[in-house]
Amino acid sequence: MRNHQIAASLLSADFARLGEEAQAVIDAGADMLHFDAMDNHFVSNLTIGPVVCAALRRYGIQANINVHLMAKPVDRLIVDFAKAGATAITFHPEASEHVARDLVLIRKQGCKVGLALKPDTTLDCLENVLDKIDLILVMSVNPGFAGQTFLPTAIDKIKLVRKVISASGRDIRLAVDGGIKTKNIAQIAQAGADIFVAGSAIFDQPDYAEVITEMRSQLAKVK
Ligand code: DX5
Ligand code: ZN
Repeated sequence: MRNHQIAASLLSADFARLGEEAQAVIDAGADMLHFDAMDNHFVSNLTIGPVVCAALRRYGIQANINVHLMAKPVDRLIVDFAKAGATAITFHPEASEHVARDLVLIRKQGCKVGLALKPDTTLDCLENVLDKIDLILVMSVNPGFAGQTFLPTAIDKIKLVRKVISASGRDIRLAVDGGIKTKNIAQIAQAGADIFVAGSAIFDQPDYAEVITEMRSQLAKVK
């Protein structure tokens, strides 16, 4: 069985109490935090940047913070987020003029390296960079907003990415982001995902631990 991990997306947290919310979701059993940085340019929404990541560290958050950049260009943000305490940094190939160089930059900054695929991004971008990445993030909604419905076409894409990872023989994690709920998490795991990013499914409920426990019991059914 794969090592399944749940990443709580802070996008659906109460931003007025972000430190408290981040700690609460980790205490409720999430394995890591997912931090969506949007710039009103690469996507039509504007969220949080490196100063907020640094503030979470100052507040005392010790959990892994996986930054999902939906912003361009990425070079400067990579350096700033690494300084701000990010554990992993993931960007979209469309946001970079030099994908391989920026992947190497993330590694040089001491962070785990991720590449994100929008629903309409094909797998070609993975060619030649598999030796530089630790994580592939398959988006199962169009990036920009929390609370969207999981796109069923993502299932075949997850299967394909899993095949690519297996064929490479490398230790690369497969994360899925968007529309993950307790009712579809098992199917997504079955397709080959091992990190499950969930925002509204967790933060829109009063009891975070109850949702995360139910997600884990769904995952436990997957062979
Ligand atoms: C969307 C973000 C996601 C978002 C997921 O562009 O990348 O991480 O927070 O939210 P839910 O889980 O509500 O679909
Ligand atoms: Zn995200």
